[in-house]
Amino acid sequence: MKEQKIRFDYNNMTSDFIGEKEGISQATLNSYKDQTQKAFDFVKENAGKGMMGWTELAYNQDEIVEDILATAKDVRKNFKAFVVLGIGGSALGPIAVFQALKHLHYNELPDEKRNGPKFYVEDNVDPERMNALLDIIDVKNTMFNVITKSGATSETMSQYLIITDLLKKALGDDFAKNVIATTDTKKGNLIKLAQKEGFKTFYIPDGVGGRFSELCPVGLLPAAVLGIDIKSFLKGARFTQENATTSDITKNAPLCAALLQYISIKNGKNVSVMMPYADSLKYIADWYCQLWGESLGKEVDLDGNTVNVGQTPVKSLGVTDQHSQVQLYAEGPFDKVITFIAVDNFRSSYVIPEGLPEFPDVNFLCNNDLGKLLNTERVATEYALTKKQKANRTIYLPEVNEFTLGQLLMFFMLETAYTGALLNINTFNQPGVEEGKKATFALFDRKGFEEKKAELNSAKKKDPKYII
Ligand code: PA5
Repeated sequence: MKEQKIRFDYNNMTSDFIGEKEGISQATLNSYKDQTQKAFDFVKENAGKGMMGWTELAYNQDEIVEDILATAKDVRKNFKAFVVLGIGGSALGPIAVFQALKHLHYNELPDEKRNGPKFYVEDNVDPERMNALLDIIDVKNTMFNVITKSGATSETMSQYLIITDLLKKALGDDFAKNVIATTDTKKGNLIKLAQKEGFKTFYIPDGVGGRFSELCPVGLLPAAVLGIDIKSFLKGARFTQENATTSDITKNAPLCAALLQYISIKNGKNVSVMMPYADSLKYIADWYCQLWGESLGKEVDLDGNTVNVGQTPVKSLGVTDQHSQVQLYAEGPFDKVITFIAVDNFRSSYVIPEGLPEFPDVNFLCNNDLGKLLNTERVATEYALTKKQKANRTIYLPEVNEFTLGQLLMFFMLETAYTGALLNINTFNQPGVEEGKKATFALFDRKGFEEKKAELNSAKKKDPKYII
C-alpha cells in the first residue's frame, strides 16, 4: 500500500526555491500554527455532521456497495449503453473517474474488448447534443441513471422528461426497468417519481453535497457499471483520511496544501491552475474546478463580513497546454498557483521508433518512450516556471488506478474543507447560483416567480449602441 501512496511536493512554493517575494518561508508557515490548528479542529469536529457527511463515505457504505455491485452486474449483462443524466456534482465525478480508469476510447472499442455497456454523461441541455445521443443509442437497451441531489434541477429534469417520454413510447409500462434514480432520501421530485414509477433507487446521504458526492452512489454506480473496482477506490479515499489525522502540516498533506493555498490567496494569487500530465486525468481538472470554485468563492464569511473571497480554478493539460497557456504562466502576472499532477508509471508505453537520422533535432527523440517525453516535459516546465519564480506544486501518483484515484479525490476534498475553514467561510453552500436559477424560472413564467419576473422586466434594458 505504501508504494501506492500519492505524494505532495511543495518545494516550488517555498521561498527556498522561488525567493522571498513569491515564495512562502518556513517562518511564515509557522506563524499560522494557531489558525491551522483551528482549521484542522473545525474539520475534525464537523466530520460526519451537517454537510460533512462525505467524510464518512469511505467507512459506512458496505451494504450500499454490495447493492451497487449487484445492480451493476445486472446492467452490464442486460444493457448496451449506460447514460448518466445529471449536471455539476452529479456529472463531473463520473466523467473524471471514467476518463481516468477506462480505455481512452472506451466507447469505440469492439464489444468483446469493451466488455460492458457504452458510457455517456449528458450534463448539458443543448438540443443538438440530446439529438446526437439519440442518434447513437437505442433507448430500449439503454439504462438511464438520473442523478440529482435536489431532485429538482431544471436541466436534469428536462432530460428526465425527454427520456421517460421516449422510454414509455418504446417500452410501455415496462419503461421503469430502464431507469435508476440517484437522489436525496426525502427531498425533491425525483424521489417522489421514483417511488411512484418503481425505479431502482440509490440515495445521496443528507450531508453529502453535489461536489462532494463522488464517493457515494452518484459516482460508485457508474464506476461499478464500468467494471471499476469501487472497493479499492473507497480504500484509497480512506488511506488519505488515515494519513490526515494530525494538525502537523509536515504529516498532513491536504492540510499543508490548504495552508499554502490560503497564504497564496492572501498574497494575491487568485488563480489555481490544475494541470495533470496525463490524458487519463484530464477531467480531474474539471471536477476540481467545480469543487474549488463553488466551495471557496463566497461573498460573506461565517461572521457575516463581506469578503468576496475565492481562487479562480483553471483547467489545463500537460503537455497540450504548454503550447497554449504556459507562456502566460511563465511570463504573465504572479497571480497563480500551478498544480501539476504527475504519474510515475504510465499504464502503457510506446517507444518512438528510429527513422530520421539525418535530422538531429528530431532524432534525439528516437528509442524513447512517449511517457518519458511527457514526464520530461513536465519536469522541464516545472523548472522553467520555478526559474521565473512562479509558484507551483506537484502531486505524484505512482500510477493511475482505483486506489490512487480515491486518494487524490479525497486529498482535494480535504484540502477544500481545510481552506474553507481557514477562510472562515461556508464551504458547502452555493448561494451565488440561486439568482440565475430564479431568473430562469421567472423568464419561463413559472408560478411563484411573478415578482422576480417584474424585477427582470424593470431591469435596465441593454443599449443597442453598445452592440456593434
Ligand atoms: O455542488 C453542488 O451542490 C451543485 O453544483 C450541484 O452538484 C449541481 O447544481 C447539481 O445539483 P443536483 O444534484 O441537485 O441536480
